[in-house]
Amino acid sequence: MTSEGQSIDTLNERFGIVDAVAFDAGRGGLPRIVVATPVAEAHVYLHGAHVTHYQSAGHESVLFLSQQSSFNSGRPIRGGTPICFPWFGVNENMPDAPLHGFARTRPWQVTSARCTDGGKVELKFMLIGDEGTRAWWPHGFQLGFTVTVGDELTMSLELHNDTQTELSCEQALHTYFMVSDVRKVSVHGLENTTFFDKVDGGIRKRQPNGPVTFAGETDRVYQDTEAQCVLEDPPMGRRIINSKSGSRSTVVWNPWWKKSVAMGDFGDDEWPGMVCIETANIGHCAVALKPGHTHSTTARISVEKM
Ligand code: BG6
Repeated sequence: MTSEGQSIDTLNERFGIVDAVAFDAGRGGLPRIVVATPVAEAHVYLHGAHVTHYQSAGHESVLFLSQQSSFNSGRPIRGGTPICFPWFGVNENMPDAPLHGFARTRPWQVTSARCTDGGKVELKFMLIGDEGTRAWWPHGFQLGFTVTVGDELTMSLELHNDTQTELSCEQALHTYFMVSDVRKVSVHGLENTTFFDKVDGGIRKRQPNGPVTFAGETDRVYQDTEAQCVLEDPPMGRRIINSKSGSRSTVVWNPWWKKSVAMGDFGDDEWPGMVCIETANIGHCAVALKPGHTHSTTARISVEKM
């Protein structure tokens, strides 16, 4: 048995696909799905339904994963795509509640794995509200997550409201992208968009008519934007394209050196090699979901040479 109570053998018997999908004990003994096809490869931990690696044929790795990350069931993984739900950052009503919600530190259930058209692999996961989650968020819920690994990586979070009342929640697909050097990259697509600047007291600002570039700690919540972001990385000779649907916030984050030193699960020198572009719904862009309704938030990530 793995440390999260699911036997690797059973998972392989139920969901393994020859030459495409295998389960193993990943770092810290946590159950992990390894996808390897001629088109792409990916790793997904059941802990948090956390995608930690994605690489399409002919390109370098897309996601950053910290060398110092925890890999144990009580802690989030640092890198890849943590799922933030049902709140983002600090829970203002419960300051002791886990940062970014509980979804990234819960064991998720795999519900299906299959090969689809164009050599893609589709993996489906589910997190269902229980006593543990109700201690933090007093609602019944079903949260589905679909990962499609092919010449692009698609991640889709589906919240179904099976209660009698409206549900309101924040969420983020908090993707860490691997870059050559954050000081040499730019993020296009957020021109003229309003953001809350968390490194300047959360005040509201407007992005000028130009890309986001990095010259210090950056922690911004861009609001009312459904725009695609393009991360241009000239030293790596590539563009990463993050397009999205069902998401009206985009967070851009790099901790820079001072905050990196203060983070126990992040190397002091790792900050130049990553930038987060997060597909989110935060603050006044939070999801409000009527009884019986379903909401999907999707991030679609692809790479091209430049
Ligand atoms: C970003 C937040 O999304 O996540 C930052 O905007 C935060 O404020 C960062 O520092 C990392 O959060 P955590 O909980 O994974 O350390």
